[in-house]
Amino acid sequence: MSAFLHQRPLHNVQTDSYSSSPRSPNDYQKPSTIINRTTLLLLLILLVLLGVLFPWISIPHGLFSTNSKLSVSKWKDYTLAEAVASVAKNGTVIVCAVSQPYLPFLNNWLISIVRQKHQEKVLVIAEDYATLYMVNEKWPGHAVLVPPAPDSQTAHKFGSQVMYLENCADVMLSAQYYRCLRRQGFFNFTSRRPRHLLQILELGYNVMYNDVDMVWLADPFPSLQGEHDVYFTDDMTAVKPLNHSHDLPPPGKKGRTYICSCMIYLRPTTGAKLVMKKWIEELQAQPWSKAKKSNDQPAFNWALNKTAGQVDLYLLPQAAFPTGGLYFKNQTWVQETKGMHVIIHNNYITGFEKKIKRFHDFGLWLVDDHALESPLGRLK
Ligand SMILES: *[C@@H]1O[C@H](CO)[C@@H](O)[C@H](O)[C@H]1NC(C)=O
Ligand SMILES: *[C@@H]1O[C@H](CO)[C@@H](O)[C@H](O)[C@H]1NC(C)=O
Ligand SMILES: *[C@@H]1O[C@H](CO)[C@@H](O)[C@H](O)[C@H]1NC(C)=O
Ligand SMILES: *[C@@H]1O[C@H](CO)[C@@H](O)[C@H](O)[C@H]1NC(C)=O
Ligand SMILES: *[C@@H]1O[C@H](CO)[C@@H](O)[C@H](O)[C@H]1NC(C)=O
Repeated sequence: MSAFLHQRPLHNVQTDSYSSSPRSPNDYQKPSTIINRTTLLLLLILLVLLGVLFPWISIPHGLFSTNSKLSVSKWKDYTLAEAVASVAKNGTVIVCAVSQPYLPFLNNWLISIVRQKHQEKVLVIAEDYATLYMVNEKWPGHAVLVPPAPDSQTAHKFGSQVMYLENCADVMLSAQYYRCLRRQGFFNFTSRRPRHLLQILELGYNVMYNDVDMVWLADPFPSLQGEHDVYFTDDMTAVKPLNHSHDLPPPGKKGRTYICSCMIYLRPTTGAKLVMKKWIEELQAQPWSKAKKSNDQPAFNWALNKTAGQVDLYLLPQAAFPTGGLYFKNQTWVQETKGMHVIIHNNYITGFEKKIKRFHDFGLWLVDDHALESPLGRLK
């Protein structure tokens, strides 16, 4: 029976004649003559009906695992809750949010995580269907899409969330503008990140969020000392003493701190949830002109500022989690802190190609020579 199942997605079974259109010569096998076609068909219809009428009866994974198409359709409608439950290890999940243009960075980041043996608990929050399908096809169950999201064509055209918002202005006077606005309202991305994180906390998991323009040089988990609610890193470039305080730093020039929203670790506590709720509130309070820049970091900083009295915050050590503005720009400092670096963030630079070149120059662009270490393999 499983030879048959491997041929095509279940929903095609009733319309296709299974023997006439083998998709892949490798997958295709002549059904055994002992179990005849009719029996198989009936069994399949029964399985489909069982799935429809009794969705809580899950068909064992093993049955589908060798057919990527089936895997993909299986994961397509997974909710965030289901996805987290399936990848979390020891109550912990590592998440990132990725749209198709960032897949090379995702792959680079993943290779560095594989080297620290934490890839099993990585969940990719796909921002478009192309990303969802690509990741789940190569690495079943490790991507989830929280609707709504654009289809792959739109995603390809506009690239990232930043571009969705800016594109409407570009087409302001055409009929497209209205479609664009609808899309914008529909794909209202502004507070997606804290909303996803809050949902994961509500489900009771520890969650680490990373931007994918990061590379792990060591295991970050031993750095998450104590039982604090929220762990984060400073985005300031000024060199601090190695024994700097782990409290929220004092506000800088603009009256606020420069904590990076790129790497956050949260425990499922009331305090951490409060920070996420505040972050969402701060984003909603922003006028659209600010949201347009699609930078949710200031709002995160205000959220930390406003909740600091009620929440146990923990600033991670600079030597372990330096901003790109320090790591890539001060070789003296890099030498001085050699062996202490844990996660490197390729920020303080704009442009896709420039980021890649910089990673490359510093020996941190792993996808060219080490793609096979990634669960996604080499990207086409
Ligand atoms: C599981 O989590 C607990 C508490 O968070 C931690 O102390 C322990 O080291 C973790 N175990 C593994 C295998 O990661
Ligand atoms: C985006 O979503 C937030 C919260 O869900 C809402 O307050 C805001 O009005 C939305 N903006 C648009 C343009 O739909
Ligand atoms: C760091 O160390 C210096 C000298 O070793 C000391 O004067 C200072 O108080 C320490 N700072 C903190 C925050 O512990
Ligand atoms: C919050 O921001 C205000 C205004 O900049 C500042 O005066 C205050 O010290 C900040 N509070 C904390 C806990 O950082
Ligand atoms: C670079 O790092 C060194 C060593 O930590 C430090 O003394 C120096 O001030 C740093 N330079 C800049 C421009 O921040």
